[in-house]
Amino acid sequence: TVLVVDFGAQYAQLIARRVRECHVHSEIVPSTMPVEEMLAKGPKAIILSGGPASVYTEGAPQAPRGLFETGLPTFGICYGFQAMVRDLGGTVARTGSSEFGRTAAELGTDSVLFSGLPAAQSVWMSHGDSVTEPPEGFHTTGSTAGTPVAAVEAPERGLFGVQFHPEVLHTEHGQDVMRRFLYDVAGCRPTWTMLNIVEEQVERIRAQVGGKRVICGLSGGVDSAVAGALVQRAVGDQLTCVFVDHGLLRSGEAEQVEKDFVAATGATLKVVDAQDQFLTALAGVHDPEEKRGVIGREFIRVFERAAREVVAESGRAGEEVRYLVQGTLYPDVVESGGGSGTANIKSHHNVGGLPEDLRFTLVEPLRELFKDEVRKVGEELGLPAEMVWRQPFPGPGLAIRIIGDVTRERLEVLRAADAIAREELSRAGLDRDIWQCPVVLLADVRSVGVQGDGRSYGHPVVLRPVSSEDAMTADWSRVPHEVLATISNRITNEVREINRVTLDVTSKPPGTIEWE
Ligand code: XMP
Repeated sequence: TVLVVDFGAQYAQLIARRVRECHVHSEIVPSTMPVEEMLAKGPKAIILSGGPASVYTEGAPQAPRGLFETGLPTFGICYGFQAMVRDLGGTVARTGSSEFGRTAAELGTDSVLFSGLPAAQSVWMSHGDSVTEPPEGFHTTGSTAGTPVAAVEAPERGLFGVQFHPEVLHTEHGQDVMRRFLYDVAGCRPTWTMLNIVEEQVERIRAQVGGKRVICGLSGGVDSAVAGALVQRAVGDQLTCVFVDHGLLRSGEAEQVEKDFVAATGATLKVVDAQDQFLTALAGVHDPEEKRGVIGREFIRVFERAAREVVAESGRAGEEVRYLVQGTLYPDVVESGGGSGTANIKSHHNVGGLPEDLRFTLVEPLRELFKDEVRKVGEELGLPAEMVWRQPFPGPGLAIRIIGDVTRERLEVLRAADAIAREELSRAGLDRDIWQCPVVLLADVRSVGVQGDGRSYGHPVVLRPVSSEDAMTADWSRVPHEVLATISNRITNEVREINRVTLDVTSKPPGTIEWE
């Protein structure tokens, strides 16, 4: 493994992903972790991430004591570079020449890290402080107009540092630099492949679960489907999957779980049709948070009953259901502070509040994976592409895309409009450019129109296509006008209740992605 030492902000995750894209396993560790603990993980190399602080301010995070004496190949990036330089006796200062964004750099071709790469490169910078003098024994291997010391190395000691961000795609040869360090300097081998991940997880699941039975709640989303498929691959029919159909999914999604998932995995699936129960519970509820509360509560109720049934059906002694599959991902693990066993139960469909006598031990086969890796594992396991590449969809489903009370008729109207929008966006090849595109039914609003040969008095829908990297911030997508025109024409022609299609052109912030 390669350890990525996290100096704060979001930089470490991107570095860890880039390392894995070189097919080398990476793990993020906090900068406060003692060196002995790091060494116990048996790393082949260390990468120090960027961070928001200034190395010389009080309380700024430091490189772990003794890190540079371990003999491990170490690569400092941005803040990590400055922390390394300062630790080893060089100087870092606020020179007054900050650089942000794409910057022209001269990178020494006699350097180990940049060998074989063009001398003149465009790199991504984001810094206010600069290294003004490298530590003794280091030579400078790169510079920009504003930063004379933009890269240094002491190859015989295995120490390298760069001021720019090789992990950012705008750095032309960033990934090449990463490969030089990982393969040529650290001697890592590209063994982190999807096939290996699947095999390793299968072994681990078998070791954890033994001959016991396992239950997995499927939501229709990517994570639970891939987690379930992995467990199925590992322990076969010791697994029972449970799918609660709450009637709030989009067109075709329930069928995907009931047919395609089962066909691809051979899993035993228990489908609970709880549509009536959810609709009854949602009757007259229009406040968004109240909707979420009702759905969460009903979900736990239904899932609990199903779990009891599975437990009761599981028969022979020693075979009780003991394990519950969770689709926890690596970013959740990192953000909740790491430690194993700290289940981070995110949203209601991950089954939060099961009662004491239904305690399960968690099986979390995706704990080490980033989302893009989860999708690749899903493909490796033969799950259908529509499932693996599904855009994010909220647990409470269409209920929070109907502004007003949720009824069966309104769900049908929204489902029809949503299906058209999805179909046309896919047809235009925009699936991977758009993060997600909620279609929102303004069920309590009516407007006048002319449809066919008469006056209509129907409802508007809102298209909300957004681009985003992580849903924390988002911008409205510039979908080509022709595509919007087709969607609008089709929806108003094919869905009788809708006589107006509008486009949401609000970024996040201030608007959230969903309307509720
Ligand atoms: P907002 O609307 O907060 O959405 O900008 C950010 C992301 O979260 C999704 N979302 C939810 N997911 N339960 C979920 O599982 C929820 O209650 C929920 N609300 C919003 C939303 O689709 C977007 O991807």
